[in-house]
Amino acid sequence: RRLLGTAGAAGATGLVLGAAGGAAAYAVAVESPTALSTVGATGVAFHDRPHQAGITEPQQAHGHLAAFDLVPGAGRKEAAALMRRWSSLSADLMAGRPAGDGDTGVALDAGPSSLTVTFGFGRTFFDRTGLVAQRPPGLDPLPAFSSDQLDAGRSDGDLWVQIGADDALVAFHALRAIQKAAGAAARVRWQMSGFNRSPGATAQPMTARNLMGQVDGTGNPKPSEPDFEQRIFVPSGSDQPWLDGGSYAVVRRIRMLLDDWEKLSLHKQEQVIGRRKSDGAPLTGGTETTELALDETGPDGKLVVPENAHARISAPEQNGGAAMLRRPFSFHDGFGPDGTPDAGLLFICWQADPLRGFVPVQRKLDRGDALSAFIRHEASGLFAVPAAPKKGEYVGQRLLE
Ligand code: HEM
Repeated sequence: RRLLGTAGAAGATGLVLGAAGGAAAYAVAVESPTALSTVGATGVAFHDRPHQAGITEPQQAHGHLAAFDLVPGAGRKEAAALMRRWSSLSADLMAGRPAGDGDTGVALDAGPSSLTVTFGFGRTFFDRTGLVAQRPPGLDPLPAFSSDQLDAGRSDGDLWVQIGADDALVAFHALRAIQKAAGAAARVRWQMSGFNRSPGATAQPMTARNLMGQVDGTGNPKPSEPDFEQRIFVPSGSDQPWLDGGSYAVVRRIRMLLDDWEKLSLHKQEQVIGRRKSDGAPLTGGTETTELALDETGPDGKLVVPENAHARISAPEQNGGAAMLRRPFSFHDGFGPDGTPDAGLLFICWQADPLRGFVPVQRKLDRGDALSAFIRHEASGLFAVPAAPKKGEYVGQRLLE
């Protein structure tokens, strides 16, 4: 049964909202037999754009991350067919079209709701497909950090899928359709779900808060900055041309020890980060977007932004310019037997080179971040995310064809 009208049918047409930080938005025409709200009608293009969707678009309210492993015996041919299936399915879903004839109807009535589906390849993908010579050095395993408490079963994977949408049913529908389209070629290795604030809940778009209550994302590089592209996306001319215009995603499931955190006074919480909780402004004053005055001392002669404050240690100027685009989802997977929340941050950061983005910053945070006492890294993944395909092509075609 068809869910949506064909071209020319009466209905609503929606266009994408502005992307984060004023980046060029890549919209897709959305057809629907029923009128849609702005939230529902917003569609993001899958093809014909420089980078895959789901990196510079605004964070959506609902997210699912899933890693898949190719089944024993599946190799390059099966992987290519899978990426072709997944790509054409994603293009349909992101335009608000059904997932083929067997569509379950779960997303009926909502439109695409800013759905994005993003695909990446893990280190082991290249062993499984006989493409080790094409494996970029950026996929070398991340170093072990002293505070890591990683669960191997919820880490890594041959293939990674990131799904985001502003409607929970649309997001689930996409996840289920992607899982089914894996068919006999790949099995789910792990899956995690998260959320962000709903669009429209605040009077104007604001930087999101995390589950510790902090404004989180202020220091992110902005697409309008001249070095944004070179910091976040792989430049052309690398040893692996198939990854030109791609990026690397580092994924960490970071549990927040909220029972401990919430016992801290507001003053102590602000000292841990180096910013005000109410509005994200530096402790040295100004507004959210004011630069931190890292050298400023108070009347007691001590640094106003403490030596071990998270915002000081992670600042690019303290890390040789290392920068990453953080685009996380919060998670909450219930309470433990003693009432401890299993909640935190599905930390996802994007960079042109993990050895110049995530790794040096996490090394420093691991050694002396005041936030460390209140968080626990529980799972980890590193994935190479190729550029967006052209119409008629699939993600990773330059690698797999
Ligand atoms: C900044 C929270 C983990 C890298 C911040 C800020 C907050 C925050 C509140 C200040 C506002 C902002 O600029 O966004 C957290 C929490 C974490 C976490 C709650 C864990 C649950 C990490 C990790 C990394 C990281 C694992 C990377 C290894 C950064 C960077 C900045 C930042 C690069 C911006 C610094 C700047 O531009 O000056 N974080 N963070 N954070 N964090 Fe984290």
